[in-house]
Amino acid sequence: MPGTTRRAKIKAFAKVNLCLEVLGCRPDGYHDLRTVFQTISLADDLEVGFTPGRQTSVELESSVDIENNLVVRAARAVLEESGAKGLAKFRLKKKIPMGGGLGGGSTDAAAVLIALPVLTGRPIAWERLIDIGSTLGSDVPFFLMGGSAIGLGRGTELYPVADAQAQHVLLVAPRVHVSTAEAYKALGRPLTSVDSLPKINISQLVALAVGGGRIAGDWRDFCSNDFESVVFRQYPEIGEIRRKLEKFGARLARMTGSGAAVFGVFEDVWSMDRASSALRNETVIPISFVSRARYFSAWRKGLSQHIDDNQWPLHSRYSR
Ligand code: C5P
Repeated sequence: MPGTTRRAKIKAFAKVNLCLEVLGCRPDGYHDLRTVFQTISLADDLEVGFTPGRQTSVELESSVDIENNLVVRAARAVLEESGAKGLAKFRLKKKIPMGGGLGGGSTDAAAVLIALPVLTGRPIAWERLIDIGSTLGSDVPFFLMGGSAIGLGRGTELYPVADAQAQHVLLVAPRVHVSTAEAYKALGRPLTSVDSLPKINISQLVALAVGGGRIAGDWRDFCSNDFESVVFRQYPEIGEIRRKLEKFGARLARMTGSGAAVFGVFEDVWSMDRASSALRNETVIPISFVSRARYFSAWRKGLSQHIDDNQWPLHSRYSR
């Protein structure tokens, strides 16, 4: 006899990379990074339902067709790891542009890794969730903590830092899909070596600036994204968007991840609105940075009926 369905509506927030340096290629084919991740207010909507039962299955209804969807892969990984049995059903409303360097697929996967163990009542140790997240994608572990964090190694070695401050941010999503794997290839980085050291020092400056609570616009001089040169060469229109954001007063304008989305940090809402009008032919989304406290509180709110207390990681009320 199947049990009652436990349901939750959650938000899966996107990210930007405040800086992103690609040091060199690793023996496993991935690249060593130095990056600062930041969660932003743009989010996908995910409805999750779990009905305990004897048979295990995973179903997904999505507003866009995505091959090999990370939601399904994450759900299967959670059910297999925890041994929970039943029907896991998801309804995904995609709002995060795909191929934008905004971590859209990764945040959906992380949302499943956080929510599903709460609904099944079969908790998974935090370290295991991070391992499972890493197998799903390099950005997934970041979304298990949100806020501002430094990412090293493949991007999966994370160090939370004080929240970066920025209230008036514009995100521009060009109608261009950049392949992450292709962008890495175009960089043509050799194996990681001691030549990478100056780049490590730059990242330290960014880390100190974030840790010091300085506003994001002040980092302009030492904040870079190594993908900009190769991606702007192939898609000059993305570089043009960055230049426009700067022209209309952005204190800091950068591409995120391997593109194609670009964000601009403004001092006030008026200069942000002026830039937004100048870019009216593009998809322009006003966003704010989401602090770790806000990130955790959104999670608690989404799963409030199914958790016992205010702890993080969340404690399921169904676990014995
Ligand atoms: O881990 P993820 O699936 O997001 O990575 C997509 C592709 O980006 C990888 O197949 C790899 O080519 C490249 N990548 C990389 N080094 C990283 C992260 C991603 O080379 N640190």
